[in-house]
Amino acid sequence: MTEPMLRARGLARTFGGLRAVDDLDLDLAHAEIHALIGPNGAGKSTLIGLLCGTITPDRGRVVLDGRDITRLSPAERAARGLARSFQVPRLAAPLSVRRNVMLPVAAARGSCFRFWRACRSDRVLQDETMRILARVGLERRADIAVGTLSHGERRLVEIACALALRPRVLLLDEPLAGLDPASGAGLAALLATLTEEVPILLVEHDMDAVFRLADRVTVLVRGRRIAQGPPAVIRADPAVREAYLGDEAPC
Ligand SMILES: Nc1ncnc2c1ncn2[C@@H]1O[C@H](COP(=O)(O)OP(=O)(O)OP(=O)(O)O)[C@@H](O)[C@H]1O
Ligand SMILES: [Mg+2]
Repeated sequence: MTEPMLRARGLARTFGGLRAVDDLDLDLAHAEIHALIGPNGAGKSTLIGLLCGTITPDRGRVVLDGRDITRLSPAERAARGLARSFQVPRLAAPLSVRRNVMLPVAAARGSCFRFWRACRSDRVLQDETMRILARVGLERRADIAVGTLSHGERRLVEIACALALRPRVLLLDEPLAGLDPASGAGLAALLATLTEEVPILLVEHDMDAVFRLADRVTVLVRGRRIAQGPPAVIRADPAVREAYLGDEAPC
């Protein structure tokens, strides 16, 4: 069997007495969208933090494309192709869309030094930035300040920043949250096309989107995996339905 692109084994993290992530195994295969679902507080964002290194595990290992990255910093993991988006977007609001995306484009090329001057003169950086903006449908918004964009457009800028890092894996924490239906449908369609380039671990509460997009679904409850499988199997799983009682039923 092919080695998964990303592999977590025995990951665990407690906060005080709370087991936020409890002895968790997870694989992300090449070219798949693997959805991670579960009620509020299940440990989904904590798991994303453990995978990308912003949260230190109590135990467990993270392997990216066959290499153990457990001890690497978030920056070192990003340099190896682990890109993420946050539950709340983190962008430089006063800067233009172009500038926000050009920064990770330059970083991925090792051109951070004298960044502002390099940006103006480096045609290659400009072209690469515009190629990525076109990929997410924002080429006509390149010179708009990010702070004035709609919520949906800011999500697209975040995805563009992740793509700029030439990722080998994308970890997306609730990319569809708070989007109006049209923006959500547009972003979901974009995600579906991105898997040709990069596998995606998708944390999402929008069950319609999850069941439409995902190749595989893992269900977390109180830090533990209670089910994993293709969408149709997960949808019919009694334990999953039980876990969602009183919450958003996954159907
Ligand atoms: N830094 C922290 N300090 C203390 N407790 C934390 C911390 N981060 C997370 N927790 C707790 O760990 C549990 C898991 O939180 P996490 O944010 O991973 O859940 P989640 O599945 O992402 O939830 P949501 O769907 O609401 O985003 C929660 O009970 C949360 O309160
Ligand atoms: Mg979360």
